Amino acid sequence: MREKELRDLLADMSLEEKIGQLIQLSGEFFQSKDISYGPIQKLGISQKAIDLTGSVLNVTGARVTKELQDRQMAKQPHNIPVLLMADVIYGFKTIFPIPLGLGATWNPELIQEAFRTAGNEAAASGNHVSFAPMVDVTHDPRWGRTLESPGEDAYLNSQMSRAMVTGFQEDLADKAGQVSCVKHFAAYGGVEAGLEYNSADMSLSNLFQNYMPPYQAAVDAGCGMVMTSLSTLNGVPGTADKWLLQDVLKKQWGFDGLLISDYASVYELTKHGFAADDRDAAQKAMDAGLDIDMKSPVYANELQGLVEDGSLSVDKIDAACWRVLELKNKLGLFEDPYFGTSEEKEKLVNLTAAKRKLTRKVADEALVLLQNKNDLLPLTGQEKIALIGPYADEKSLIGMWAVHGDPADCVTIKEALEEEIGERLSYAKGTEVSLDKEKLRGLGFIPAEEIEQMVPDEQTEKKQQVEAIKIAQESDVIVYAVGENSYEAGEAGSKTDLHLPENQVALLNDLATLGKKIVLINVSGRPLVLSNVTEQCDAIIQAWFPGTEGGHAIADVLLGKISPSGRLSMTFPYTEGQEPLYYAHLSTGRPRQGSQHVGRFVSRYIDAPAEPLYPFGYGLSYGKVNYRDLTVKQSHIQSTESLQVNVTLTNASDWQQKETVQVYFHDDVASVVQPVKRLVAFKKVRLAPQSEQKVTFELPAEKFSFYDNQGKQVLEPGTFQLFVGANSRDVQKVEFEVVK
Ligand code: BGC
Repeated sequence: MREKELRDLLADMSLEEKIGQLIQLSGEFFQSKDISYGPIQKLGISQKAIDLTGSVLNVTGARVTKELQDRQMAKQPHNIPVLLMADVIYGFKTIFPIPLGLGATWNPELIQEAFRTAGNEAAASGNHVSFAPMVDVTHDPRWGRTLESPGEDAYLNSQMSRAMVTGFQEDLADKAGQVSCVKHFAAYGGVEAGLEYNSADMSLSNLFQNYMPPYQAAVDAGCGMVMTSLSTLNGVPGTADKWLLQDVLKKQWGFDGLLISDYASVYELTKHGFAADDRDAAQKAMDAGLDIDMKSPVYANELQGLVEDGSLSVDKIDAACWRVLELKNKLGLFEDPYFGTSEEKEKLVNLTAAKRKLTRKVADEALVLLQNKNDLLPLTGQEKIALIGPYADEKSLIGMWAVHGDPADCVTIKEALEEEIGERLSYAKGTEVSLDKEKLRGLGFIPAEEIEQMVPDEQTEKKQQVEAIKIAQESDVIVYAVGENSYEAGEAGSKTDLHLPENQVALLNDLATLGKKIVLINVSGRPLVLSNVTEQCDAIIQAWFPGTEGGHAIADVLLGKISPSGRLSMTFPYTEGQEPLYYAHLSTGRPRQGSQHVGRFVSRYIDAPAEPLYPFGYGLSYGKVNYRDLTVKQSHIQSTESLQVNVTLTNASDWQQKETVQVYFHDDVASVVQPVKRLVAFKKVRLAPQSEQKVTFELPAEKFSFYDNQGKQVLEPGTFQLFVGANSRDVQKVEFEVVK
């Protein structure tokens, strides 16, 4: 449609219709011709509002979306098609590793390809918008949504954010991509104590330096939508924060797309105590510039009244409605409401062999080898392997937020190892993910009868353990696949105990008495506390929830088909009492090293190390890459110049390596105290066996700037330290100066 026609359409629409465009409802409202009594009554909106709804959430599939489109368009006086949006967080049918694992690839090009694939699949199923990427920086693994984020660092998350947005939208013009909706704006990952739906409260310097860059990167990459956060930031709910939505997002960053609330967050403005009632909530959200109200009765029930009594200008409704219509038009929905979808296309596009290959490659790069005593790994493939543990033959490797994926499509570790070593593999489950019924009930997802079935009686559990010990005794190596329940990670999965479940550790301790080599595979959506299992294990692989091809990728690493290259994008603590624990903490006046104080009065814990178990950026490969000759070309740069950094890598092994060269810096003196280290650049380079490579970075001086407490970016002249290495801890250092 040409702009003029679209303008005419808007001019011809009734107020009711326009408001309809600002409402988003979920699938249950549209499942049949007559919507069941339940959802309408529960939400408390009229049938008319449902008929006029402009967008629908999490309905996918060619047949279903076509039917839905037909039904809805027939009900709309101007036959306006609905926008279909969905949570395509890390894949649609082909599931990639969870985003925390994607962060661990340190490979934005590969992640762009992955998200392009996700967009292709979702579009083929008739979907238009993805509620992703989620790029909330998080420093606290107690927060369940850690699973959804690429990690703890603003720079790494920004690179991933750009890649994900670009990937989703790459094929949009061919109706083979999705509009990307970045979330959750802003600083949802900063909620206190890692407690879900809690509040974030922080200095502007912290906000702009550590939390905002990934959202801004998404906006710069052209994301079409932004979703607000369920939480408050400095006392104001993100959904109605005029400063955030207008001043920062629109004016400062130039975002001109659509703004949507998170699920029911407009309604929740009253729960927060920010709005007196629904009417007040509607007014405040509209005043802040929020276009679409997701799954709440507020816009549906209140906007008309606000306009009619003059409290809200119709221009605001028009502007918001225009943005919705514009997006529909950009997608070509007025000409082709089905978005080119068909059941045949869907079959051709989804979960193809090429896509399986891609997700295996991504998972290969996401797995992080945390420990490898005496180079136990890789295995030769000739050993007799006892595969044990609740995740050994488990299809839930796709994780809980892969809502459109099917666990049945997932390759388990057992299936993958069987393909490779056949009869040399023996398997016993040994124990369950959890035996704690109370905790399982606490997840709030699993029906009571299922919990009863999930937890065997004592005798059966004992039998499982005995079987595991028996096959372990007969083996050369034990591969023990453990982890947290998939429902423990993800939204509303906050928890305070980050240890592996007791029953899993107990079986590990029994296995350890056999004197066999043990490889631990940890499946989790967050950093867990592994300090009580490192001793018993020879090798540890952090597997995240590795996706559809997770089993194959784990076998690839175990058997040395690849040299592992994943590097942690989030710090692993010794103990949860250290949280929030992150590498880029500010310099303290009493550091553990270099303080004038010794002993007690330095920044430390009296009962635990202050250092992490595994630092940010950490991960092992087979065969080591050495760093030497770190130099900066100029010892002084002006604020308009770039710093050239050179370092030479040597791969003295026979492995083909992918090494992530990480560059950090520290600003020695600044008017706002700066982090001890801050990631400023990285490159994932390929190194042939027995080779050497010089790696160069050009870093514009502006990269060494920081945000002050007015939220302004400043570059203060002075001395800086530059660190280069394989992780945030093991680095070499040079100095340079920024001069006026
Ligand atoms: C989540 C969002 C998600 C939305 C729609 C909310 O509960 O916070 O991340 O996109 O639901 O499913």
